[in-house]
Amino acid sequence: MSGAPGEAERQVARVLARARHIAVLTGAGVSAESGISTFRSAAADMHALWKEFDPRTLATPEAFADDPARVTRWYDARRIGCLNAAPNPGHLALTTLQRALRSRGGDLVVLTQNVDRLHHKAGTQGVVELHGNIVTWRCTRTGQSIEPPPEPMPRFPAPSPFHPEGLLRPNVVWFGEALPTDAVVAAEEAAGACGVFMAVGTSSQVFPAAGFIQTAMARGAVTVEINPESTSISDLVTYSLKGRSGEVLPRLVGTAA
Ligand code: OAD
Repeated sequence: MSGAPGEAERQVARVLARARHIAVLTGAGVSAESGISTFRSAAADMHALWKEFDPRTLATPEAFADDPARVTRWYDARRIGCLNAAPNPGHLALTTLQRALRSRGGDLVVLTQNVDRLHHKAGTQGVVELHGNIVTWRCTRTGQSIEPPPEPMPRFPAPSPFHPEGLLRPNVVWFGEALPTDAVVAAEEAAGACGVFMAVGTSSQVFPAAGFIQTAMARGAVTVEINPESTSISDLVTYSLKGRSGEVLPRLVGTAA
């Protein structure tokens, strides 16, 4: 899509105002303005976790088996960061848009790769968590989940309250693990049924999440990307809006201050 950025944004705002079914794939960028780090960024000045840490030593079952104390300490610090974070105007604009669509018989489904629960905190309903969440942890022996209290865990690795030989691990999806089947089914369904598909704050590099846009495109949906940087889908989408989601989304939805 060419033309002045302002004009593209106005066109997208009109598309959203007329839409009935919208699917929104969100990534770490949507929470950046809430103070949560992203994983990858081309910009030299932008903090990104996988620039600082090797994901193979933290975000794989093998890393946890090798050094459960190191992995759980790192995830627990991120858990506390997420618990202390507040949704930003981008999250809130999606909630407003969902309410508007539902009031006219449509729906907006958020498919998130984020584990921070900020869409929930913003009041969005029916969020599909593709990569799990960091707020609940489960026993490695029994699979039972608990929500640890909102303070740093006292011991690493964290012993499971459910089994004497179990450890607690975050309910996130690590590299090499399968995504929850019900989340993938719900995402495919939303992508296949939507008239508008938006990819917001994601580098679109991690599959299967990055592939849902193909389902929407095959169905003929209007596609929109919101990201300050170019990604592999920027040239494929109907509208590529360059900017921060906490600023662009409220303007599109009409909730900007
Ligand atoms: P990435 O860190 O790969 O990408 C974040 C994207 O957000 C980048 O393209 C940034 O340009 C963009 N961005 C930064 N600030 C933004 C802002 N204010 N508004 C909008 N966009 C902004 O994060 P994801 O695509 O979510 O998986 O990464 C996908 C998965 O890779 C994560 O869920 C995680 C990671 O490894 C696992 O841990 C399994």
